[in-house]
Amino acid sequence: MLALAKKGDTIAIESPAYFGALQLAKNIGLNVLELPTHPGTGIEMDALKKSIESNKVNLCLLVSNFSNPVGSCMPDENKKEVVRLMEKHNVPLIEDDLFGDLYYGNQRPSTCKTFDETGIVLWCGSFSKTLAPGYRVGWVEAGKFKEKVDRTKSYHSLYCNTITHEAIGSFLENGRYENHLRKLRQSLHRNSLQFLRAISEYFPEDTKVSRPNGGMHLWVELNEKADTVELYNKAIRNKISIMPGRMFTLQNQYKNFFKLNYGMVWDEKVEEGLKVLGKLCHS
Ligand SMILES: Cc1ncc(COP(=O)(O)O)c(C=O)c1O
Repeated sequence: MLALAKKGDTIAIESPAYFGALQLAKNIGLNVLELPTHPGTGIEMDALKKSIESNKVNLCLLVSNFSNPVGSCMPDENKKEVVRLMEKHNVPLIEDDLFGDLYYGNQRPSTCKTFDETGIVLWCGSFSKTLAPGYRVGWVEAGKFKEKVDRTKSYHSLYCNTITHEAIGSFLENGRYENHLRKLRQSLHRNSLQFLRAISEYFPEDTKVSRPNGGMHLWVELNEKADTVELYNKAIRNKISIMPGRMFTLQNQYKNFFKLNYGMVWDEKVEEGLKVLGKLCHS
């Protein structure tokens, strides 16, 4: 983001969006254009087209596969269309593909980068969600912006931690990482089904919930009278952690939404936690 935009520029982004991206954009002084997003297919193409064609957008950031928090996954046609649109208007697209390896279907979803012939897409990934965030190892294939990104990276930190890179490199050899991913995908998929079952059992009847085909998040919508910041305060007193919807926007919205993360080991304690959370939602 820092390499591509300056104070006063506008970035188009999905809504709801990962709070880290929103905070970074705000800190750089960007105007953030939060665009409507479908829980199944990602950013609404008409809204994106309209904003890009207005020539007011300098940069676009999308989590193309299993976005955080809604879990949407853009179909190939949308990925192709986004790339064509960005090429036509010369708007760089940061594709945050952090969750793409965590698919529950038969094959990994494609990326916008797959359809990029001119280098307009900066494809980003990391091991934060598949191994551990503490390694701080990620990557970017920055297309035609490579030099700018290299330069910006070197201003901020000249070198990376080579020991963690070496350790992960060794894990990637001989298919050990692939083997780990296979098991991780299975347990995340199982967890998602357990969470969905528990929500339908313990939460109020009018609760709506996303049904992602990958990743580790559920986006939950309660009755419009609910306030999920209040729910958060009550839940945390019971040692249950949720993320209120308002964290995923810079606007005044998603007051009755929250995100649940199911990237833990499923056991009776988690089941009990969801039961308690359900009771709190009822109250
Ligand atoms: C969509 C998205 N992008 C980026 C990040 C940050 O990832 P990292 O730990 O690799 O910096 C997160 C972390 O939750 C995320 O959900």
